[in-house]
Amino acid sequence: MDSIGTLITSIPWWLWVIAFIVLVAIWDIFFQRSHTIKHNFPVVGHLRYWLESIGPEMRQYFVANNREELPFNRIERGWIYASAKKENNYEGFGTDRDIYAHQHIFVKNAMIGYQIPKDHPNINNPYFLPCAKVIGGYNKREKPFRPASVINVSAMSFGSLSAAAVEAMNKGVHKANAYHNTGEGGLSPYHKQGGDVVFHFGTGYFGVRSKEGNFSMEKMKKLVHENPCIKAIEIKLSQGAKPGKGGVLPGAKITKEIANIRGVEVGKDVLSPATHKAFNSISELLQLIEAIAKETGLPVGIKAAIGKLQQWEELADLMVKTGKGPDFITVDGGEGGTGAAPPSFADHVSLPWVYGFASLYKIFKNKNLTERIVFVGSGKLGFPAKAAMAFAMGIDCINVAREAMMSIGCIQAQICHTNRCPAGVATQSKWLQNGINVPLKSDRLAQYFKTFRKEFLEITRAAGYEHPSQFTMQDIQVNVDDDYLSSDLRTVYGYEKTPVPFTDIQALMECAYLGGQ
Ligand SMILES: Cc1cc2nc3c(=O)[nH]c(=O)nc-3n(C[C@H](O)[C@H](O)[C@H](O)COP(=O)(O)O)c2cc1C
Repeated sequence: MDSIGTLITSIPWWLWVIAFIVLVAIWDIFFQRSHTIKHNFPVVGHLRYWLESIGPEMRQYFVANNREELPFNRIERGWIYASAKKENNYEGFGTDRDIYAHQHIFVKNAMIGYQIPKDHPNINNPYFLPCAKVIGGYNKREKPFRPASVINVSAMSFGSLSAAAVEAMNKGVHKANAYHNTGEGGLSPYHKQGGDVVFHFGTGYFGVRSKEGNFSMEKMKKLVHENPCIKAIEIKLSQGAKPGKGGVLPGAKITKEIANIRGVEVGKDVLSPATHKAFNSISELLQLIEAIAKETGLPVGIKAAIGKLQQWEELADLMVKTGKGPDFITVDGGEGGTGAAPPSFADHVSLPWVYGFASLYKIFKNKNLTERIVFVGSGKLGFPAKAAMAFAMGIDCINVAREAMMSIGCIQAQICHTNRCPAGVATQSKWLQNGINVPLKSDRLAQYFKTFRKEFLEITRAAGYEHPSQFTMQDIQVNVDDDYLSSDLRTVYGYEKTPVPFTDIQALMECAYLGGQ
C-alpha cells in the first residue's frame, strides 16, 4: 500500500494533467457518438460548446450596446431597475437613441404645459393616476370597478412564476393600489395578499374547472363569493406570444398545491386545448360573458392578440344588436411575453401591438362602441412615452408582465421555460425562489408603478393635459418610412399564392408516402 501511495505522490502534477487530457480525447473519439465536433476535434472541441453556453451572458454584459438587446434593451431594463429602487433613473448628456429612426415616437409638448392647481390631488399624492373609465359601468354590472392605477400586473400564473414572485407582486400591487391579474393557473394563496385581483382563465379553466375539464359556473360563483379581492374576470382567447396554441402541464410538475389551486389531479398530465369548450361561436362567447357577469355581479372582459378581423366585426355587430358585450378588452401585442412558446409562434403569429390595436379599435369606433368598453393594452408598454402613445390610440389602462418581473429582480436570462430562472422569479425550484426577499421586492414593484405613474403624469402635463386619457392621435408623432405603416404580403409582393389542396391532418398521417416512420 505504501509503495502505491509513494508512486502516486511521485507523479508530477503535469503528468496528471496530460493523463486527464488523454482520457478526455479517448472518450471523445471512441465512446461519445452524439457530437461530431468533439469526435473530429477531441478535447479542443469542448471549447466550442463551452463558449456557446456562455455566449448570451458575454453578449449581454460586454458586447451588446445599450439599445441593441431584445425583448428589453439595457437602457429600458436599467430604467425599470432604478425606478423600482427609487434610485436616479435619469440619463446624462442627451438621448442615445436615433430619433430619426423608423417607428420612433414623439410626444408633442405644449407651449405652456398643464399647471397643477394648488388643491389638486397630485399635490399630496404625486403618484395618483387611476383609470378614467369604470369597468362594467356601461353594462350596469352589480359591482363595477375602476382600477385605481393605470398600470397593473398582467396575466402570469402561479406555476409559470414562483410562489415568492407572485406573493411579492400581490403585496406590491396592494402597496401601489394597482390590480394583479392571476394568469391561467387559478387563484393561489399567493395572489391573496391584499391587492385587487382580476381572475383570468383560459381553455384549461384552472380554478373553475369541472371534473371533465369544462368550465364550471358553480365553481366560478363559489370562487368569487369566497374571494372579495376579485374585482373583474378576464376570459383569455389568446395571448400575443402564442395565439391559438394549447399546452400540456406535465404530471411531474403537478404538486399537491398546484393540483388544489388548479382543480386538477396530482401527478397526471393536464391538457390546455388550443380552443375553448365553453363556447363555439361569437354569440356563445357573448352569452358566456353575460352569464358570468349575471351570476357573479362582476365585470367580465376578454383578452386576445389580434390577427384576422372578421370575428371582431361580428362581435361588434352583435354588441350593437343586443346592447350587451364585454366590459373590457385586453389587447396583447405579438411582441408579448410568455413562460414558454415555440419561436415560430412567438416570432410570427399575431400582429404587433400598434397594428393589432389600431385595427381593432377602428372596428369598435366605427360602430360607436368604444365608450362601452375599457381598453387595456399589453406588449412592452410599461414605459411612460410608450404608454402615452397607447393612450393616444385609445387605451384606458396598461398591463405589464415582464416589466413587473424585472422590477422584482428578473435579469432577462430568457430561460423561463427551463425552470432554472437564476432570479427565482420564473421557477418552481425552492432553492432559487428562496433568494427572493418578498417584502423588499414588493416595495420595488410598488415603487416602479409609482415612478411610472409620476413620470407618465409629467409627460401628460408637458403635453398640456391633466390625465393621459386626454391624449389624442395628433399628440403623438411616429417616424414612418413611407405612406404605408404595414401592408400584407399580397400588396408587397404582388401575387396571391395558389391554394394548397388539404383535407385534414388525419389524411396526411395516413398517406402511404409519409416519411419518418
Ligand atoms: C412568465 C409569463 C407568464 C405569462 N402567463 C400568461 C397567462 O397565463 N395568460 C395570458 O394571457 N398571458 C400570459 N402572459 C403574457 C402577459 O400577460 C402579457 O400579455 C405579455 O407578456 C405582454 O406584456 P409585457 O410586454 O409587459 O410582458 C405571460 C407572460 C409571461 C412573461
